[in-house]
Amino acid sequence: MLEEFLISTEKNNSLFEREIRKLPVPICDIFTKEGKIVPAKFKKTDKQIGTSDIEMINKEFPKTVKDSENKILEGIKGDVKVSGKRVAVLFSGGPAAGGHNILVGLKKMLGENNVLFGVKGGPKGLLEGKLFEIKDGDIEKILNTGGFDFLGSDRTKIKTEEQYEAVRNTVKKFNLNGIVIVGGDDSNTNAAVLAELLYDEGVQVIGVPKTIDGDLQFGDILPISFGFDTATKIYSELVGNILQDTPSSRKYWHFIKLMGRSASHVTLEVALQTHPAIALISEEVEAKKMSLREIVNKICDVIIKRAAKGINHGVVVIPEGLIEFVPEMRTLIDELNDLMGHYNEDISKMFTFEEKKDFIYKKLTAESARLMASLPDEFEKMLLLDRDSHGNLQVSQIPTEKLLIMMVEEKINEIKNHPEEVKHLNLTPEEIEKVKKFKFATNNHFFGYEGRCGAPTLFDAAYTLNLGMCAGSLILDGKTGYIASVTDLDRGGRVLALPLTGLLNIEKRHGKNEMVIRKALVELDSPAFKFFVERREKWAEEDLFASPGPRQLWGPVSKQMPVTVALNRGYSSLEFNLGKECKVF
Ligand code: FBP
Repeated sequence: MLEEFLISTEKNNSLFEREIRKLPVPICDIFTKEGKIVPAKFKKTDKQIGTSDIEMINKEFPKTVKDSENKILEGIKGDVKVSGKRVAVLFSGGPAAGGHNILVGLKKMLGENNVLFGVKGGPKGLLEGKLFEIKDGDIEKILNTGGFDFLGSDRTKIKTEEQYEAVRNTVKKFNLNGIVIVGGDDSNTNAAVLAELLYDEGVQVIGVPKTIDGDLQFGDILPISFGFDTATKIYSELVGNILQDTPSSRKYWHFIKLMGRSASHVTLEVALQTHPAIALISEEVEAKKMSLREIVNKICDVIIKRAAKGINHGVVVIPEGLIEFVPEMRTLIDELNDLMGHYNEDISKMFTFEEKKDFIYKKLTAESARLMASLPDEFEKMLLLDRDSHGNLQVSQIPTEKLLIMMVEEKINEIKNHPEEVKHLNLTPEEIEKVKKFKFATNNHFFGYEGRCGAPTLFDAAYTLNLGMCAGSLILDGKTGYIASVTDLDRGGRVLALPLTGLLNIEKRHGKNEMVIRKALVELDSPAFKFFVERREKWAEEDLFASPGPRQLWGPVSKQMPVTVALNRGYSSLEFNLGKECKVF
């Protein structure tokens, strides 16, 4: 009997997975009529958007700009009736929780009279024409489930003439009228390009904002990308559990690196949810032009102050991209990338690591050579590893948490022998004695993949279902070149469509000017960062941590949005309101 039950749970059929498929999800009012789910219409508002590069962007995208005038569209009740559309949807880049609900939302809008195709394996699948028809039975199975596994994804960038031709062939072969691209900043840049390219053929292209990194956001008009809430709630649970362990075992400092390629939104959110002793924010490190040494000294000050009070434990949270934001490390990495690119042939003929190291050292500037020599051997080696296809060091593979542990350990031992080094902390003789006896024991962690594919939180489940419905409605309403958005998250949700061209700016990438959607970094004058700065000294002094626990899909704490979003948007509570809960099937 039990064995039979256990076998029945195979293939995503645990009791939990069975229940989440039945979970009612909040739906914005404009998508419902007399208890039924219906598409919305869009009206052009007067609000025009554009970066300081808008003149140049307008010239590159004449057709979509003429059409949109770079004005925001607002969703209104409409119950549009359209039939015969053939639409393809693809996931692009790293997975993020809620992707499957985008497909459900799209399918619900397109209904029986239009066809929805899934593209297998991301943008590459679009080039290779790997499309299949998504049926009602499929979406019933994936509602509220995590992952991108139903379609798969990849990181192919569509930017060559050959690739454009391949897209045109797929469009022709499947007789497509629309393409929906679910992706981050680069993928939505691609959506803008394809919308312009396919404009005359009448093929609509719509983007959907995805990434756990949270760096695809634009103030009030695009509060956050989907997947951020689930990932940060999962990391907060894990960090909270570790925080709870520290005063229980009273002997470890945990150094925890959190995913989020560049921006520190994930780390800031987790810090606000859990209150660790230390959380580093890359954008602040860069703004204050902090050196690696200064970061280490700051961490040591907190550790020593706690040790002086007899608190020999704590947690340090570190953003994945930290190293690149430390100006001296950035300079060193840039110099190394250039040298290794320039002397690639000479270096490839060298047999030993020592030979390669000597060669490079002689060519580095004195400052960079000094910095590199001060790093632990293991990291010196990592900096000289082979580059990626663009000639860049794969910074995310550098275990920053371990680097910091080694450097902090060294510094703590130095302080124990020379307590005068921390005289700025004004410790009493008894406290100095405590510090001398204190044993610094550490653990390191990297939380990344754990957070990308969990079942979506109720926020992400609702946000994505509504984003999918927004994208589907835009297609039915004949729009192209927009990204779907839902704002006013605390008061029923306001459905918008932002012209993609209005989000583009010009950046230097690999030495060339490129039109791209700018990555949103943590703003140091944002309410969320300011609140963190107000509280962090208290969190450093004593244990004020919170353990938010596992994410809840039912019950009193299930309706919580991210703390950073609520603070930055000026909401008065964390409770989100995206309309009435509806049974989707
Ligand atoms: P996207 O920007 O594509 O959403 O990916 C985000 C991310 O999860 C980063 O946080 C992380 O640095 C990266 O993907 C890891 O990439 P990969 O899946 O290729 O290992």
